[in-house]
Amino acid sequence: MYVNMCGIIGYIGKQKSLSILINGLKTLEYRGYDSAGVAIFNNGKIDIKKSVGQVKVLEKTVKNNINLNSHIGIGHTRWATHGTPNEINAHPHTDCLNRIFVVHNGIIENYKELKEYLQNRGHNFLSDTDTEIVPHLIEDFLKNNKDFNSALLCTLKIIRGTYAFAIIDSENPNTLYAVRFSSPLVIGVGKGENFLASDSSALIGKTKNVIYLNDGEIAEITKDNISITNLEKQKTFPEVTHLEWDLEQAQKGTYEHFMLKEIFEGPDIVLSALRGRLKNKNLVKLGGLEQVANKLNKTKRLLILACGTSYYAGLIGEYLFEEITKIPTEVHFASEFRYQKEPFEKETVAIAISQSGETADTLASIRKAKEHGLLTLGIVNTVGSTIARETDAGVYNHAGPEIGVASTKAFISQLTILILMAVYLSKSNENSYNNTLLQELKKIPKKMQTILNRSDEIEKLAEKYKDYDNFLFLGRRYNYPVALEGALKLKEVSYIHAEGCSAGEMKHGPIAMISEDFPTMAIVPQNNISEKMLSNLEEIKARGGPIFAIATEGDKRITSLANDTFFIPKTIEPLEPLLTVIPLQLLAYYIGTKRGFDVDKPRNLAKSVTVE
Ligand code: G6P
Repeated sequence: MYVNMCGIIGYIGKQKSLSILINGLKTLEYRGYDSAGVAIFNNGKIDIKKSVGQVKVLEKTVKNNINLNSHIGIGHTRWATHGTPNEINAHPHTDCLNRIFVVHNGIIENYKELKEYLQNRGHNFLSDTDTEIVPHLIEDFLKNNKDFNSALLCTLKIIRGTYAFAIIDSENPNTLYAVRFSSPLVIGVGKGENFLASDSSALIGKTKNVIYLNDGEIAEITKDNISITNLEKQKTFPEVTHLEWDLEQAQKGTYEHFMLKEIFEGPDIVLSALRGRLKNKNLVKLGGLEQVANKLNKTKRLLILACGTSYYAGLIGEYLFEEITKIPTEVHFASEFRYQKEPFEKETVAIAISQSGETADTLASIRKAKEHGLLTLGIVNTVGSTIARETDAGVYNHAGPEIGVASTKAFISQLTILILMAVYLSKSNENSYNNTLLQELKKIPKKMQTILNRSDEIEKLAEKYKDYDNFLFLGRRYNYPVALEGALKLKEVSYIHAEGCSAGEMKHGPIAMISEDFPTMAIVPQNNISEKMLSNLEEIKARGGPIFAIATEGDKRITSLANDTFFIPKTIEPLEPLLTVIPLQLLAYYIGTKRGFDVDKPRNLAKSVTVE
């Protein structure tokens, strides 16, 4: 099992490439950050610089050269898969002649045998990476009098795995090469200049017009032209997508961290997800689903496929869909579903939820669903991303770029879209329950704001709880996935061991852990299941476990049980997660920062997991 979360950047054009590459790498840093490197043309030859650690270390190393007259270059930020994070293993990698320079995201699965083959043919390797075989293979094919393009094509035909490459060749100073197979790569189309990045967020502020490469496509990019061919040498005609994101959205503004900024964006995120989608009489209009509306009317079963936080949003989706649409719904970890031997019934609809639209397991599971003839839908934030393109139809989140590695605003947005989708799919779109739901949904942004306005209360409680080593998160029904998400958030940014549990299951095991050193975060808003929650909390109290509760304003029952309570406004149960998750996101944020961690870039994690 491999994970890869590196970042690629490339530039060709009128500006000085080095500073563009460094800035691009900084915006991509959330994808991986154990080492970084750049290769640029300088006076007819290619210069390379690499360093271990965050991009700022590389920036320092190249500080004196930042204004070099170089108009083409590639850069990379690495998250190690093959070989320890050191300068030698950092990208770019080159061949024996220092002619061809390659940066790579992904894994080359047959690299060992190819490396041995090349070594037997006299090639000298410096690193432990799989990537290094690529420039050597191209070099080897070039020896057989092949031109660069043919040598590249021959290389692509013998490597196996997943990849996105950016390549420059000393003999072709006016061309930047880009290749994609399973790892995302996007070309930013400029005027007299073009950009390349593994993630469109790195292009914000540079250009709004982008081309997403498809699997098996090779792009030859000059400053004025982009030519794309497939592995059969046929020309393809790419679609130019317009990015909506702007620079301000990709900057921290007055916030200390992206995570905090993104939590505070919650009310706007709900509004953006609702914009243009609520019609008169509270009908929901989802333009992206119109083309498949007839098929959707016949849906007999729903499958939700996702990973991480998106999976937890999916679990809430199951409660929503079953309650509102009455359509049986199952949620699967995409990584499990792709290998499951599942019977497929006709009229099942598969819904992928993904912030990035690039998560490898989610993509693979959607491809599997398609192969079995299912209609596939996407709830995706990144416009034009692979999952957005490969699903039959879908709904965009319009949440703007999410930069913090731990997902916060995307979760809020996904829940909002799931509510809209549930109402859309319920055949009685106009019934009174849906009416109440949508009326209440419209009130959610203001209610969220009242929670955010009291973030200092959570900060104080974070101070009190920050030194515990363990946490149990409890919830029921709609708030059970919130408990899972709250525990995940805390783990991700504070490295505290935290378990999310359905409160009813607590007595079947987790209760054994409870002691005065093991606090419980109880999500217990006032609803028709809260009495059961309160009994569970009695059990914890009886065992001396500290309790921190999230409860509904005015609910006095909790005060005698909990050591600390954070009150939230009342709403109807299906909408509670939109409110209950906010204090949990804030708690994770404050505990993480108080423990001294960089919450925007938690260790070992990455934003977009593009390899299995
Ligand atoms: C990674 C991120 C998580 C995210 C998950 C799924 O693990 O760190 O924050 O929830 O991938 O990502 P997706 O882009 O598919 O929602």
